[in-house]
Amino acid sequence: MNEFTCKEEIEEERLPFIGNVGMKLAHEIRNPLMTVRGYLQYFLETEGAEKEKLDIVLNILIPEIDRANKFISDFLLFSRPFTPQRQYTYINHLVQEFRYLVLRQLMVQNTDIILDLSPDLNKYPLYIDAAQIAQVMLSLFLNSIEAKEKPTMCITIQTKVSDETAYVCFKDDGKGMDAYILSQAFNPFFSAKEVGMGLGLPVSQKIIAMHGGTINIRSRKGRGTAVTFTLPYS
Ligand SMILES: Nc1ncnc2c1ncn2[C@@H]1O[C@H](COP(=O)(O)OP(=O)(O)OP(=O)(O)O)[C@@H](O)[C@H]1O
Ligand SMILES: [Mg+2]
Repeated sequence: MNEFTCKEEIEEERLPFIGNVGMKLAHEIRNPLMTVRGYLQYFLETEGAEKEKLDIVLNILIPEIDRANKFISDFLLFSRPFTPQRQYTYINHLVQEFRYLVLRQLMVQNTDIILDLSPDLNKYPLYIDAAQIAQVMLSLFLNSIEAKEKPTMCITIQTKVSDETAYVCFKDDGKGMDAYILSQAFNPFFSAKEVGMGLGLPVSQKIIAMHGGTINIRSRKGRGTAVTFTLPYS
């Protein structure tokens, strides 16, 4: 047996182990995190003398918890095989719901979302895993927010349909990417950020590929970034 075969065998043994530990970690972290989030949400909705101070703290804590939760979701989707749980979904509705979900963050971040949704997409629903596509949207949205350079930001979400394919584009006026970052952006664990895990784009790519679509980035340093993903009808 040569050295190469031995290493391969070790890898084979190690991968399921890493997968199991990862799953256990994910559950152990996610459950308490969700309990804490539940209580914070309760405080947020409670009127009282300290409401203003509480708001400031909660507006910091809730996005932090959501971020940890997103990492766990990304990690789970990255580290094990999955099949989309598809249902018929109108993509424009999903975009509108998504905007509603991030309203608070938009306010805190001084950011506007402009929706430019093609009415043609209201005629037929797509057969997609809505939760997973919402996760892709969250990853793209967070990347835009994290690329904010000026005091305000504008994100445009555009949908259109062509040749039996839906297109969804997230465009921002953030700091953009240089050629090196652009070339690495889809590599797992590549991150140009201090706290980034580098899983947002690779996991998004995996989700979109499982739906038979593609995802691509156009970006100019100092000008902004546009990420477009496609979802085929058939
Ligand atoms: N909208 C954007 N504007 C500028 N740079 C971006 C944008 N989207 C992605 N990038 C660059 O691509 C890198 C990879 O993105 P990705 O979402 O995969 O990882 P991350 O954001 O660093 O970490 P994570 O998503 O796991 O928290 C980022 O670190 C960032 O440098
Ligand atoms: Mg990201």
